[in-house]
Amino acid sequence: MEQVNIEEIVKQVLSEMKGSTGSQAAAPAKSAAPAGAIPKTSRVAMLTGLEHYDIKEYPIPELGDDDILVKVEGCGVCGTDAHEFKRDPFGLIPVVLGHEGTGEIVKMGKNVKVDSAGKPLALGDKVVTCMIFKDNPDITMFDLNKQNVGGADVYGLLPDDDIHLNGWFADYLVVRGGSSIFNVSDLDLDSRILIEPCAVLIHAVERAKTTGILRFNSRVAVQGCGPIGLICIAILKTMGIQNIVAIDGEQKRLDFAKELGASASVNFKDHKGIEELTEAVKDAFGGYLADFAFQCTGSPVAHANIYKFIRNGGGLCELGFFINGGDATINPHFDICSKEITTVGSWVYTLRDYATTFDFLKSAKQIGLPINKLITHKFPLDQINEAHHTNLRMEGLKIAIINE
Ligand SMILES: NC(=O)c1ccc[n+]([C@@H]2O[C@H](COP(=O)([O-])OP(=O)(O)OC[C@H]3O[C@@H](n4cnc5c(N)ncnc54)[C@H](O)[C@@H]3O)[C@@H](O)[C@H]2O)c1
Ligand SMILES: [Zn+2]
Repeated sequence: MEQVNIEEIVKQVLSEMKGSTGSQAAAPAKSAAPAGAIPKTSRVAMLTGLEHYDIKEYPIPELGDDDILVKVEGCGVCGTDAHEFKRDPFGLIPVVLGHEGTGEIVKMGKNVKVDSAGKPLALGDKVVTCMIFKDNPDITMFDLNKQNVGGADVYGLLPDDDIHLNGWFADYLVVRGGSSIFNVSDLDLDSRILIEPCAVLIHAVERAKTTGILRFNSRVAVQGCGPIGLICIAILKTMGIQNIVAIDGEQKRLDFAKELGASASVNFKDHKGIEELTEAVKDAFGGYLADFAFQCTGSPVAHANIYKFIRNGGGLCELGFFINGGDATINPHFDICSKEITTVGSWVYTLRDYATTFDFLKSAKQIGLPINKLITHKFPLDQINEAHHTNLRMEGLKIAIINE
């Protein structure tokens, strides 16, 4: 009898050391390992109807050999979540949303050894997920990254299935084999929550650089100072660009733009008509138009305006329209042709942009940019409806769900 018990214990210890997934037992002890056993069930915030989440509880399933169980620490509320909450444009309801999440590995399948960048993964590591290229496993960190996430799946925007633990607005997430995942244990929680939106801007800046116009000493206009424009400013500043003019209609956002690196700001509400506004932008640059501009609003009027702020031979990166926001009217002769403006569009990001983002977040902190102040509100999971309404009321910048 005693012999059998010892055998059982040895088997269990060995299987846990190998990261076997066969049991629901406690994670092996490790300095940074999660305290206590993994529960049998996990809460999720399930969007069950328009503007309504229910907190539901589902069993934590057995893991496959390539899967990872992550204990969620926090997740940002994105504009896409707001669209789903209000209108369900992707037709996903019922769905567990949340794609700007991060957490700790509490259990791993035996085949899991490294992350998508080749960095070792272990229990207790802090991770983020990127996209799931189920149909194209050839897309990796190490290819030329010509493809961005368009068409790929993302945790937090998956149709509900019998696993249910598919989004970061939950206590646990099951990361299935074939997903991209990154070990970001060297970043604090707030930085990790900001990775996904920051990757959008890393990609936009990389797109901007392909024009050859964005340089160390460029004059750069950033129109729109929501989270997207503000992060754009922080990235430009971190790159060493000193001449950045922020344009928005919300004074509080413009003030924060200066904290994040803008050298001057223009409140468009203080100026009547596009000529007067253009003069104000020019004044803010000390009498010059912008060499380069980033369009970070979802407003077609703002798109039409921005050409006026750019000098002849300058460049534009349009990234403000994640979804269709309608048509804009521009004058092709004055705005593009005779000015010889070079324009690039930017949409989402690539896996490589994620790795660059980790370095950006560290660099931004090193130069003293208060990047974590982008997270203005934190709510527990059971207040997720309130968190989304706060987001819709545009009371803050980035709203986050934080698990205790
Ligand atoms: N390209 C991508 O992959 C990508 C990814 C995420 C978001 N986006 C898009 O980026 C846009 C900005 O995102 P956000 O989260 O910062 O949104 P947000 O709504 O918080 O910010 C937009 C800002 O633009 C300002 N604004 C509106 N009209 C303006 C005008 N005429 N001139 C100057 N400023 C004006 C608003 O006051 C606001 O501060 C959204 O439309 C979103 O769809 C694109
Ligand atoms: Zn997002």
